[in-house]
Amino acid sequence: MSDKVPVIAIDGPSGVGKGTLCQWLATQLGWHLLDSGALYRLTALAAQRRGLPLEDEARVAAVAVALDAVFVADVAGTSRVLLDGVEVGDVLRGEATGNAASRVAALPAVRAALLQRQRNFRRPPGLIADGRDMGTVVFPQAGLKLFLNASAEERARRRYKQLIEKGMDANLAGLIEEIAERDARDAQRAVAPLQPAADAEMLDTTRLSVMEVCEWALALAVRRLAVRVIP
Ligand code: DC
Repeated sequence: MSDKVPVIAIDGPSGVGKGTLCQWLATQLGWHLLDSGALYRLTALAAQRRGLPLEDEARVAAVAVALDAVFVADVAGTSRVLLDGVEVGDVLRGEATGNAASRVAALPAVRAALLQRQRNFRRPPGLIADGRDMGTVVFPQAGLKLFLNASAEERARRRYKQLIEKGMDANLAGLIEEIAERDARDAQRAVAPLQPAADAEMLDTTRLSVMEVCEWALALAVRRLAVRVIP
């Protein structure tokens, strides 16, 4: 039954603006949202909290299998995330957790452990799936696949702005370096590396505004999937 539920798979590197686009599309269409990066972040966090070395593939994969993660959607369209029953807060979105997530995401057993959990998000009326391998591995049959890109400098600048707006500390040069390091690890790993599906629609967002990207994606969804926007 779930294979009849439409999916829009949206992939691309860190900080390219997929999160904002996916949340906006999910709200416009009234569809569910899969933030697959959050599952890798939660796995890394849970492993660290249990004192496991992040390269211990078997034990980190066991953590992923048993991951007690709950996403609670709130009115603003954002979601609160509970790990082991306790809200995780800002630490989940921080750079340190992003880097730890990128390390555990390179482990094949961890990716295998999270595969079915990601597919379970596919529920009517539709799913917006945000990640690195949504169009290539998790939902290869998705009716629409988008791949966003932007220069590493521009992505670091966007991330810097976000952190400053949240009142957090940030260092632009450090962010550029971290983004480049994360890109390299995500693109070069042996399993499900970051790469566009052969049938993905590509967009370089370096010089585009958030709304320009959103409108491009919505126009494709209307044309390809005959979706309707919630009034
Ligand atoms: O999208 P994000 O920054 O929350 O993702 C954190 C890390 O998780 C990212 O560096 C790579 C990994 N990831 C992945 O390998 N596959 C996904 N589908 C999503 C994220």
